[in-house]
Amino acid sequence: MTVETLIPIAYLIAAVTFILGLKGLSSPTTAVQGNRIAAAGMLIAVVATFFAQDAQGSVPLILAGMAVGGVAGFAGARVVKMTAMPQMVALFNGAGGGAAALVSILEFSRELDSGRMPDFGVTVATLLGLVIGAVSFSGSAVAFGKLQGIVSPKAFRYSGQQFVTGGLAAAIVLLALLLVASSLGTTTLDPMVILIGVSILALAFGVALVMPIGGADMPVVISLLNAYTGLAVAMAGFTLANQLLIIAGTLVGASGTILTRLMSKAMNRSLGNVLFGAFGAATAAGTTGPAAGEDGRSIRSIGPEDAAILLSYAQNVIVVPGYGLAVAQAQHSVRELADLLESKGINVKYAIHPVAGRMPGHMNVLLAEANVPYDKLFDMDQINPEFQRADVALVIGANDVTNPAARSNPGSPIYGMPILDVDKAQNIIVIKRSMKPGFAGIDNDLYLDPKTAMLFGDAKDAVGKVVQELKKAA
Ligand code: TAP
Repeated sequence: MTVETLIPIAYLIAAVTFILGLKGLSSPTTAVQGNRIAAAGMLIAVVATFFAQDAQGSVPLILAGMAVGGVAGFAGARVVKMTAMPQMVALFNGAGGGAAALVSILEFSRELDSGRMPDFGVTVATLLGLVIGAVSFSGSAVAFGKLQGIVSPKAFRYSGQQFVTGGLAAAIVLLALLLVASSLGTTTLDPMVILIGVSILALAFGVALVMPIGGADMPVVISLLNAYTGLAVAMAGFTLANQLLIIAGTLVGASGTILTRLMSKAMNRSLGNVLFGAFGAATAAGTTGPAAGEDGRSIRSIGPEDAAILLSYAQNVIVVPGYGLAVAQAQHSVRELADLLESKGINVKYAIHPVAGRMPGHMNVLLAEANVPYDKLFDMDQINPEFQRADVALVIGANDVTNPAARSNPGSPIYGMPILDVDKAQNIIVIKRSMKPGFAGIDNDLYLDPKTAMLFGDAKDAVGKVVQELKKAA
């Protein structure tokens, strides 16, 4: 028995750890452990690969590549801010897609160099790996650029757009058919020329696909591109006859697809609408908020002192965090506020909407950063029945996820989106800077509710002032 015969066993162990890791990632309490298990499995797989026959002779090159990638990844992960996580994921994801595309094309040319035309199966796997990987690479690069502000984050649209995107897709299919025909020996065209043509078209298609999407829809798109990368890696696994790549790629493809569906569903949108609808792209910068006074209702504004009084007379408080809390980095101040209230015997819970913020688990990660205990965080379905018993719902930088129009106004773009039932609380305090709308670009009727008091200001600053008032009163 040679060491090489043990490689499939190492890959099998790694595959099992990936599945265990994914299972661990499904809950905040086990996520860190899950991540470690999967990382350990990846280490086993990487070490095992060095013993493969194919790797011999290239070890220094592989080590050099690992050093460059490892340092860049480590440094990037240490310095990235939580709010910049989507673009970080886009970058890593694009690199994965690009690598899968390169593997496909290089393996194909290696086969050709050895004087053989790859058979039908290898040709199809190569094409799929190349096209999906290249689309994921260029699409992720555009997504990164938009989120980082290098490219305009707005949806980029022009007349005839569908024809250009559709034309690119048709051209890719046409060239792919030509390559398959050449693998069957029915055409004499140079397969490498066709493959390079496919690569260029697929790169252009990735750009054309992502450019028309508005900045705030990017997390959904990144999740979709992530699923693409997984599929491209699985295809590269077929080309290389590497079982681990097939398994790991399929797991990434499946989990990315599930996440994309969950995100779209939680926003009450179809994936088609995300990709082609430019939702939120028209968020009016000049919009000032709901038209107060038209029906006799008006906005009630309060100061930190009044907010502190309202909170200190409460028995049950539900904190509703949103995107504004992340922008303001108010998580530590919120934790301090909750500690103060709890020290007065007040019960504090946190209501987590699945798409609060701008990425999956955004609020969980932020609150975990401030060491808010996991058992105080409640999902929408768990917490919604509790709002009517809450004396105060404290909404901090959240908007769309609290908008009652999603329940009551069939004409609203968010109609049907499940929301947090904040309006059922006895009192509502909303902390935000102005009456401007959130991501969906629509007014929030909650702010005109007679039970609602608006505390205007930056979330960190406003919560800090409420904390000071509570301390003064203590
Ligand atoms: P939003 O509806 O976007 O509202 C955030 C609010 O925060 C804004 O109205 C803004 O009002 C306020 N804000 C901004 N900076 C602030 C600061 N420094 N201090 C205090 N407030 C501040 O957020 P949400 O309720 O969390 O909903 C998330 C939205 O994003 C949903 O529409 C969802 O569909 C969408 N989305 C989510 C995801 C994921 S996976 N989470 C992905 C894509 C899209 P002011 O400007 O007046 O302060």
